[in-house]
Amino acid sequence: MGGPAHLVPAQPLPRPRRLQRPPGRAAQARERAALNAVEAYETGRDESERIVVADAGARYDIPRYCPHAGEDLSVGAVVRDGQIHCLAHNFAFDLATGECLNARAANLTSRAL
Ligand code: FES
Repeated sequence: MGGPAHLVPAQPLPRPRRLQRPPGRAAQARERAALNAVEAYETGRDESERIVVADAGARYDIPRYCPHAGEDLSVGAVVRDGQIHCLAHNFAFDLATGECLNARAANLTSRAL
């Protein structure tokens, strides 16, 4: 029997596990409530909200939500070296011009104060 190591017979495949039962009504209701909460959050925010960020003595008025996919920049961003970095997908925007510096995205509507 001593053939090459790469010709060792494969182990038998494990038996497939049983499919899980579909969720019961209580679980479906919880899932529906969670999905409704997410939808309410995503559609209920005021896209015109603006925030003020400061960097190196300058202050900028910018939209609260990232123009890429809506991350809340008031909590999900880092301001450094004249740029704001959205932590959702790491897009960087120039605070002075609003230009997206590392991806194709709409610009921030930034305004120096
Ligand atoms: S949501 Fe800001 S980079 Fe994607």
